[in-house]
Amino acid sequence: MITIVSGTNRKNSVSKKLAHIYQGILQSKGVATELIYLEDLPDDFTETALYDQSGKNEVFNIFRKQMLEAEKMVFIVPEYNGSFPGVLKAFIDGLAFPHTFRDKKAALVGISSGVQGGGLALSHLTDIFNYCGTHVLAQKPKLARIEANLTENKLSQLYHDLLEEQVDKLLAF
Ligand SMILES: Cc1cc2nc3c(=O)[nH]c(=O)nc-3n(C[C@H](O)[C@H](O)[C@H](O)COP(=O)(O)O)c2cc1C
Repeated sequence: MITIVSGTNRKNSVSKKLAHIYQGILQSKGVATELIYLEDLPDDFTETALYDQSGKNEVFNIFRKQMLEAEKMVFIVPEYNGSFPGVLKAFIDGLAFPHTFRDKKAALVGISSGVQGGGLALSHLTDIFNYCGTHVLAQKPKLARIEANLTENKLSQLYHDLLEEQVDKLLAF
C-alpha cells in the first residue's frame, strides 16, 4: 500500500490532478494506493487539531490514522513562494510524532509554474522528513512549467516517463 498525499488544500489544484495520475501509474503496476487530499482537511484544523488539541479533532484523526498506518508515502508538492505550501507543514505538525515518519520511505514530486519545478521546496521538505526519520528517495522529479505540460488530465510524455521511473525506483526502495 502506497499513500499519496496531494500537498495543498487549494481547490481544483494541479497537485490533485498529478496525484490521480500518479495513482494510475501505481495501479497499472498492480500496487494498492490510498489518496490523501489536503483540501479535505477540516478548515479549522490549525486551531482544533494541533498542540494541546492534538488528537481531539475527529476528522483530522482520520488523517492521522491514515498517515500513521502508511507504509511508503508519495508527496505531490507544489512550489509556493520558493518552498512547499504552509498547509503541508501544518499538516505534518499535526501528525503523531515520531511514529508517523520514523523509519518510513517517501518519494517527492515537485511542480511549479516557473522553471524550478519545486527544487527548493523538495529540498526543504527532504530536510524535515530526514529529521523525522523518513528516508527520501533520491530521485525527485521537478515538474517545471507545469501548465505547458499538463493539459486537461494528460501529462506530457517526458513528465509521465519521469514519474514512471520514480515509481519503479520507489517500488524497489
Ligand atoms: C501561493 C502560491 C505561491 C506560488 N509560488 C510560486 C513560486 O514561488 N514559484 C513558481 O514557479 N510558482 C509558484 N506558484 C505557482 C504554482 O507552483 C503552480 O501554479 C502550481 O501548479 C500550483 O499547484 P497547485 O495547483 O497544486 O496549487 C505559486 C502558486 C501559489 C498558489
